[in-house]
Amino acid sequence: MHNVTRVGVIGSGQMGGGIAQIAAVAGFQTTVFDTKADAIARCQATHAKLLARAVEKERMTADEAESAKGRLTYVTDMDQLSDSDIAIEAVVEDSAVKAKVFSALDEMLTGDQILATNTSSISITEIAAATKTPQRVIGMHFFYPVPVMKLVEVINGLATDKKVTDRVISLAEAMGKVALPANDRAGFVSNRVLMPMINEAFYAWMEGVAEPEHIDGIMKLGCNFPMGPLRLADFIGLDTCAHIMDVLAEGLCNERYRPCPLLRQLVVAGRLGDKAGRGVFDSSK
Ligand code: CAA
Repeated sequence: MHNVTRVGVIGSGQMGGGIAQIAAVAGFQTTVFDTKADAIARCQATHAKLLARAVEKERMTADEAESAKGRLTYVTDMDQLSDSDIAIEAVVEDSAVKAKVFSALDEMLTGDQILATNTSSISITEIAAATKTPQRVIGMHFFYPVPVMKLVEVINGLATDKKVTDRVISLAEAMGKVALPANDRAGFVSNRVLMPMINEAFYAWMEGVAEPEHIDGIMKLGCNFPMGPLRLADFIGLDTCAHIMDVLAEGLCNERYRPCPLLRQLVVAGRLGDKAGRGVFDSSK
């Protein structure tokens, strides 16, 4: 049993916002924290829009949507997370920033609260080393878009207590997700397998094996993927994909994981994917 009533989310971007939304919909009192007031305001507006859409689509009643909104609190002061039973961190993928957040959380939450990170590739053991209580630090890796994707990859650091893993699996299930465990190796399972495939699609394009739309069409229709790998790279962000490949190369001590030169070049050119209006494909229209 998870023994969680109050969920604190650190970071109100796409991932943090999505996690907060599903937590509130599942009945948890949820507080979202961000240092930036404009980011918090955008997060609140997105929640209002997505909950209204869920009502329109008859996935929930108007009352249920209102109750979920009533369980959400938006703050710019981290101290307001001090009554959380679990803190789920979803800030930028930067080890130094995460270390700072976890050190502060460790000092603020001094009981058996769980300290979870939504990192997609940074070592849980490394993040846990910024605390004095690594046994309660765990990876809770959600997928984008969080309200739609069923999986939470639950990653144990070297010191993670089995009771913490069991609580997090139970919590993820209470949030309507399927929780599957993995251990702490670079990229865990999801990005260890997904990112090299995406990277290889860039190589196939770079080497002229096929045009981007044909590479994607072949993988979509041939493997029944919802999106081809290059379209998915645009969706995730080309900078994120390149960064994760570098994390794999460093973490697994193997240069074969380095980002494809063409992927790096597009990132340098600012073609970061959907968020920039252009990546592999033009999504500005
Ligand atoms: N936020 C919330 N809901 C969203 C959304 C978003 N950003 N994007 C799409 N949706 C919802 C849509 O609103 C729609 O719901 P409605 O029925 O209410 O309209 C539903 O998802 C289906 O969307 P669409 O009909 O527009 O399009 P679709 O059927 O092609 O589905 C998709 C869209 C769910 C994104 C689908 O294409 C898909 O599953 N793609 C693969 C996504 C994927 O692989 N994600 C993982 C990325 S890797 C990652 O996150 C981990 C990492 O560490 C990098």
